[in-house]
Amino acid sequence: MRLIVGNWKMNGLRAALSEVDAVAAGLGAEGLGADVAVECWIAPSFTLVAAAAAGFGDRVRIGGQDCHVAASGAHTGCVSAAQLADAGATFVIVGHSERRADQHEDDAMVRAKALAARAAGLEVIVCVGETDAERDAGAAEAVVGRQLAGSLPDDVAGLIVAYEPVWAIGTGRTPTLADVAAMHGFMRRTLVARFGAAGAGVRLLYGGSVKPDNAAALMAAGDVDGALVGGASLQAASLLAIAAAAG
Ligand code: PGA
Repeated sequence: MRLIVGNWKMNGLRAALSEVDAVAAGLGAEGLGADVAVECWIAPSFTLVAAAAAGFGDRVRIGGQDCHVAASGAHTGCVSAAQLADAGATFVIVGHSERRADQHEDDAMVRAKALAARAAGLEVIVCVGETDAERDAGAAEAVVGRQLAGSLPDDVAGLIVAYEPVWAIGTGRTPTLADVAAMHGFMRRTLVARFGAAGAGVRLLYGGSVKPDNAAALMAAGDVDGALVGGASLQAASLLAIAAAAG
């Protein structure tokens, strides 16, 4: 089944819970149609996780956008995976390029976060992706390969990896379908070579300027199991339209 994950980033006040409500309602058989089989998860800001999970978590899985490597302690302003799980989150995104860039998170830290999240019982989405300079230099696969080598736990059963070319995030630019298929194929081969059957089972999401009008084409590219959606996930209508296109 395809998986569409909305990443709200630092957007949304409590009023935005109505969008989660609308997504939950729209995912019902009447909304997407009985023949549409797709999972749809939402990662709002930390401030909304508990309310979203309590109100709608039975129909839309709610997750965090990051977690700390430690379970608790003197880390002012940070949130642990155990706290996310306690608030009702069932998954967490780690290694998003905005955190890798803004908070200087390296592969080792992303891996430590993934391990902390799994220890707390959360499903994990690990993000990877090259910058435009790296792609222009012909280094896209080398960069993503290095990120995969350094960011993943040793046990990848149930893991989700999101390929998000940095230059496609929030820009309206997307790679060609051939480029998406090539990178996802590269990631699949890399995962299978290292992890065998477990690597074959890792779900691979594409992220970066996914919209209702390009979702169906992107989801049809080879080895794409779903999408990580930023801007277009903020409105229930567009997230549902992407889910419908993906399903
Ligand atoms: P975008 O963001 O859909 O707004 O490009 C994707 C992401 O950063 O996850």
